[in-house]
Amino acid sequence: MNQRKILVTAALPYANGAVHLGHLVEYIQTDIWVRFQKLRGHNCKFMWADDTHGTAIMIRARKEGRSETEVIAEANAEHQRDFQGFQIAYDNYGSTHSEENQKLCGEVWQSIRDAGLVKEKDVDQLFDVEQGTFLADRFVTGTCPECHEPGQAGDNCSKCGATYSPAELIDPLSTLSGTKPEIRSAKHLFIELEQLHGFLQDWTQSGDHLQPEVANYLKGHFLGDPDSEEGAKPLRDWDISRPAPYFGFEIPDSPGNFWYVWFDAPIGYIASTQQWCEKNDQSLDDWWKNDVAEIHHFIGKDITYFHTLFWPGMLKAAGYSLPTKVHIHGFLTVNGRKMSKREGTAFKASTYLKHLDPSALRYYYASKLGARLDDLDLNFEEFTSKVNADLVGKVVNLASRSAKFVKNVGLSVTYPDDGGLFQQAAKAGDEIAAAYENCEYNKAMRLILELADRANPFVENAEPWNLKKDESKANELQDVCTVALNLFRQLVIYLSPVLPELAEKTGVLLNDPIESWDQSKSPLTGTDVSKFKHMMKRIEEKDVKAMEEESKAEADATVAAEQASAASDQYGDSGQPMIDEPLTEECTIDDFVKVDLRVARVVNAEHVEGARKLLKLTLSLGGEHRRQVFAGIKAAYEPEKLIGRQVVMVANLKPRQMKFGLSEGMVCASGPGGEEVFLLSPDEGAKPGQRVH
Ligand code: 2FM
Ligand code: ZN
Repeated sequence: MNQRKILVTAALPYANGAVHLGHLVEYIQTDIWVRFQKLRGHNCKFMWADDTHGTAIMIRARKEGRSETEVIAEANAEHQRDFQGFQIAYDNYGSTHSEENQKLCGEVWQSIRDAGLVKEKDVDQLFDVEQGTFLADRFVTGTCPECHEPGQAGDNCSKCGATYSPAELIDPLSTLSGTKPEIRSAKHLFIELEQLHGFLQDWTQSGDHLQPEVANYLKGHFLGDPDSEEGAKPLRDWDISRPAPYFGFEIPDSPGNFWYVWFDAPIGYIASTQQWCEKNDQSLDDWWKNDVAEIHHFIGKDITYFHTLFWPGMLKAAGYSLPTKVHIHGFLTVNGRKMSKREGTAFKASTYLKHLDPSALRYYYASKLGARLDDLDLNFEEFTSKVNADLVGKVVNLASRSAKFVKNVGLSVTYPDDGGLFQQAAKAGDEIAAAYENCEYNKAMRLILELADRANPFVENAEPWNLKKDESKANELQDVCTVALNLFRQLVIYLSPVLPELAEKTGVLLNDPIESWDQSKSPLTGTDVSKFKHMMKRIEEKDVKAMEEESKAEADATVAAEQASAASDQYGDSGQPMIDEPLTEECTIDDFVKVDLRVARVVNAEHVEGARKLLKLTLSLGGEHRRQVFAGIKAAYEPEKLIGRQVVMVANLKPRQMKFGLSEGMVCASGPGGEEVFLLSPDEGAKPGQRVH
């Protein structure tokens, strides 16, 4: 066999959101393809990572009062947990926020510069003064400059379809602060893609790398046709820099500017490979600069432009191999409608896994995925009936009706006459394999189910449950079960890229692990048969309902949280203080009550000779109770303005002898220090000496 070297990627999930069943169409599609190639004996590796950069993560981190690295580390762990739940078997999972990626971005960038593809232009961009940030397109709304429809996004109009820059919107508003942004000009760096027009024309139109409808779309919308009357269309310059503040990598030769997330994200494919190479003592160039190695990207149709024009352009300029194929799929709809987070139909992977079997979704998607870009509909009635009828009813049933009868005797030593069923199914293997190879999983599933439809009548006619009743028919029973279990195993081998768990259980049942496609070519004989254990449960309607209900409840909670957050956003409170000073270790109420906080009145305040930061305060706790406190608030307060006001003090703090005298407590204040110190005061009505609880 000619062993192929194949590198596979799926689109890198954004670190700012949970994985949902829409994403899983692609991840399952990719995983099936990778498992299929491995089963065929090819050297196939799946390199993957989180896509971590951009304004969205930055804004979210600010809101949550956390650092970006904390947010992306959490997302990475959650994503990987979900992928394991769905049995997605990648070889490496990295992050675009890695040293490897930063270094590779620098190298790719230098090559692009050396090739003379970079130019600088000033760009007018909207700037949110309150948030101190330039606004990415999706953080702006306004009125369409073409059709005057209000409430449109920053980059295109949902009514008339016009595309524009956010600065062209009429009456723009920042969705971050609700304020009117100002237009500020900033230097941006562009890649002149048009210089690569000829190359991209050839590469996209060669017929080898893209589905025909994708090649046509690129020709019609972007590249034009040099042989037609209209001729070629010039490609637009690609704006690949963003001014600070931006969460990403700073461009080494353009301080204050960062690579746009879409520049460093696909380089993350290479960076993940590099991590894997380092762990496995392999050379990166053997995968990315080697004509023999194939590179296959799986993506959704929304990111076609990036992967079929920008990315090949970058690879070409930087001297890397070009993608062998970019496999593009459509979107997921749910019961015929667009998925909706608000309506709770963007089911999270983790919610699904609480109620339903991952194998069921893997099979359902496989049964619907073809090589074209059509959308795929998740219809729960169809899902339930398909999984139950096909997998439980036609596949697993073959084993559950025969395995128990040969538990003590194992499979026959010679494969019995089965009327040619096994050989027929073995022959079908090539067509099934071709369907997998071409991403026509729906065809592969159909062919496999046709084989199941031929195998089942064999068992029904042979009636092993009746043979069992007649001891003189023990040999016949063993033969019938040997055939049934072999036909079952053959189906499972063909299904194993889709149903790895079923394949594993089958390996255990028949004491022969499923590891290679070629195992489908010869029957298994003479092995022990283990006790039959449940292999796949029927889908129950109540479990589907429970998942739908939980998802709806999650959506409602998210909407409520968004509303609450929008209310707090109107004050524009930044998350910075929580980043500067994260919460300390948890304490108990018993710890807290040890600190005796009291309302106190400042009855005297004065400068202290020789002290740069301190004021001397005399605090009254009412009656005769006085305390002398030295407080580091000199830069923020004039002493005479403090006299008479109420403050909050720590009244049971152990007195401390200072250079200037005894300090008998502390006043409570917030702020980083210096001029930025803010004393706490109780509301009107509080009385000196009252305890603060
Ligand atoms: O569209 C997306 O979800 C992006 N995060 C995909 C990035 S793919 C690659 F280029 F990194
Ligand atoms: Zn419009």
